[in-house]
Amino acid sequence: MGNLLKGKKGIIFGALNDMSIAWKVAERAVEEGAEIVLTNSPMALRMGTINELATKCNNAQVIGCDVTKVEDIENLITKSMEIFGGKFDFVLHSIGMSPNVRKGIDYAELNYNFLEKTLDVSAISFHKVLNVCFEKDALNDWGSVLALTYMAAQRTVFGYNDMADAKALLESIARSFGYKYGVKRKVRINTISQSPTLTTAGSGVGGMNDLLDYAEKLSPLGNADALDCANYCLTLFSDLTRKVTMQNLMHDGGFSSMSMSEAVMEQYMKGKE
Ligand SMILES: NC(=O)c1ccc[n+]([C@@H]2O[C@H](COP(=O)([O-])OP(=O)(O)OC[C@H]3O[C@@H](n4cnc5c(N)ncnc54)[C@H](O)[C@@H]3O)[C@@H](O)[C@H]2O)c1
Repeated sequence: MGNLLKGKKGIIFGALNDMSIAWKVAERAVEEGAEIVLTNSPMALRMGTINELATKCNNAQVIGCDVTKVEDIENLITKSMEIFGGKFDFVLHSIGMSPNVRKGIDYAELNYNFLEKTLDVSAISFHKVLNVCFEKDALNDWGSVLALTYMAAQRTVFGYNDMADAKALLESIARSFGYKYGVKRKVRINTISQSPTLTTAGSGVGGMNDLLDYAEKLSPLGNADALDCANYCLTLFSDLTRKVTMQNLMHDGGFSSMSMSEAVMEQYMKGKE
């Protein structure tokens, strides 16, 4: 389609199926000229349809990696550098999972072993990926690393549970590592705070359909969908955003700046009738 990422190489984590935000990012990145490596957990490689995506993406290589395991990440980065013939330019971390959410455990009664898993998979994994890239000096100067997050890190959303705590940590890691990697290699690190989106992870959140409807009605531009998110990611992988770093970037049709819209008020009044 275009040349926005011509000559750029990158790793995309988290494409499970064609609803995944990472799936759309992979498709769009390749359309804009990028060369990519796809990765997901060994379980997701068995359950999902990532090979279909790989074929579409100029037969991209798929490498299994459980992001909680540093040795898996080391293997992924080493193999990717072999495939790319050296350093690469961008990484998308599009990963989230909470056993507490999956099992419907209330926030006031969290299972702490599950909480550790939530934090490890959804946030600390970002530090692990960055750390391995940093140690192996795997990213080119002016590279770009993104993770996807949600506004519940700043403002409580009923039902988002311990994922809100994970997202707050994820956003903080982006800032802290953004400093280290910026100084070392001019690599920029940001999080994109995306609208609610109907995906496998998204549908795990309690009341997702109503949340989507509410956000749609509150946001002046409506919800951003997975393709909108992919397009925004591409701008941040491109050379057009080289001085944007350590930011949590709202990508939500204006939702986060709203408190009440006419459409939400009308719906609220109807509910009272
Ligand atoms: N869907 C939404 O409403 C929404 C909104 C804002 C942010 N996000 C974020 O977007 C990102 C992508 O989620 P999605 O909505 O595309 O859903 P998704 O279910 O398609 O993607 C989540 C991915 O995480 C992967 N994953 C889980 N455990 C892993 C592990 N141990 N190792 C490696 N990968 C693992 C899954 O295999 C899956 O591919 C997540 O960070 C999510 O929190 C989603």
